[in-house]
Amino acid sequence: MKILSGIQPSGQLHIGNYFGMMKTMISHMENSELFVFIVDLHALTSVHDRERLSNGTLEAAADFLALGLDPDKCTFWVQSDVPEVCELTWILSTIAPMGLIERCHSYKDKVAKGIAASHGLFSYPVLMAADILLYQADQVPVGKDQKQHLEVARDLAQKFNAEFGETFVVPEPAISQEMAVVPGLDGQKMSKSYGNTIPIFLEGKPLKKRVMAIETDATPVEAPKNPETCNLYNIFKLFATPVRLQEIRDLYLNGGAAYGYIKLELLDLISTQFADARRKKAEFLADPGMVREILKKGAVKAREKAVVTLDLVRDRVGLKY
Ligand code: ADP
Ligand code: TRP
Repeated sequence: MKILSGIQPSGQLHIGNYFGMMKTMISHMENSELFVFIVDLHALTSVHDRERLSNGTLEAAADFLALGLDPDKCTFWVQSDVPEVCELTWILSTIAPMGLIERCHSYKDKVAKGIAASHGLFSYPVLMAADILLYQADQVPVGKDQKQHLEVARDLAQKFNAEFGETFVVPEPAISQEMAVVPGLDGQKMSKSYGNTIPIFLEGKPLKKRVMAIETDATPVEAPKNPETCNLYNIFKLFATPVRLQEIRDLYLNGGAAYGYIKLELLDLISTQFADARRKKAEFLADPGMVREILKKGAVKAREKAVVTLDLVRDRVGLKY
């Protein structure tokens, strides 16, 4: 089974990215053919700052490596190092119905948030489809926000296969219900673009500031509260042991859950869970040459697969004469 997913290097990775995608990907390392990549071409739709993009790419790679991704047990690379993806994007864009791409809400959402409405931003889902189809991925673990983009990839694979003959694997989304949407400090989806994140590698005072800023209601401590609708509880449950979670849940249901204490406990859990990875990340960042080398080696492996698919596609559509 081929499992593939990518992440944009457009800001500090946060616990939503971790629980929504990175953790799942890392857990598949032993039992699948795993493809993990940093999508710098996608990030170019919103980041027009040379340093930010190139440093962000190295940093996102260091994040994955520090969290336990072993480049010998998967294919780990940077999207733009495999230029075949751009050619496949073009070919797919010639069969992508305008209506299908126009229906994608992420374009409208991003424009509403102030990102410039470029052609690249509009055709973002076609590049993402090319990412997935180029490697003939069976499964794509992502958060719920990417579900529509996966449907575009499936539609394009089916349309291409119907028009030109069986070529692409039709990929399945893999969205874990529990982790589908990790809430941010304000209860909306945690997202770099909403400024409501808890970055994975934050520590000390800045981490404390974020955790203490998790929005809660004004219910008195002794009053019973609904854990399911509490933002703090929904973040806490990602880190607590089942036993501790049950205790806290009982406090919510029966009264006695003090938000301040729960936040301090959460702070401690986050610091501890990522302590080891934080150290490793610092080591990787101290040696960017090594990170680059890992990524370049990964790109060679990825490209071997990409050229095979692209060759078949070129043949199918008549670009081989
Ligand atoms: P952001 O919204 O912060 O820019 P990305 O779009 O780069 O995040 O998402 C990278 C991966 O992390 C995707 O698979 C996405 O579905 C997942 N993800 C992002 N935010 C969350 C969240 N709050 N809950 C669950 N998964 C998330
Ligand atoms: N669009 C995804 C996001 O913003 C990133 C991405 C690009 C991706 N190409 C992909 C995810 C291919 C999975 C598979 O999170």
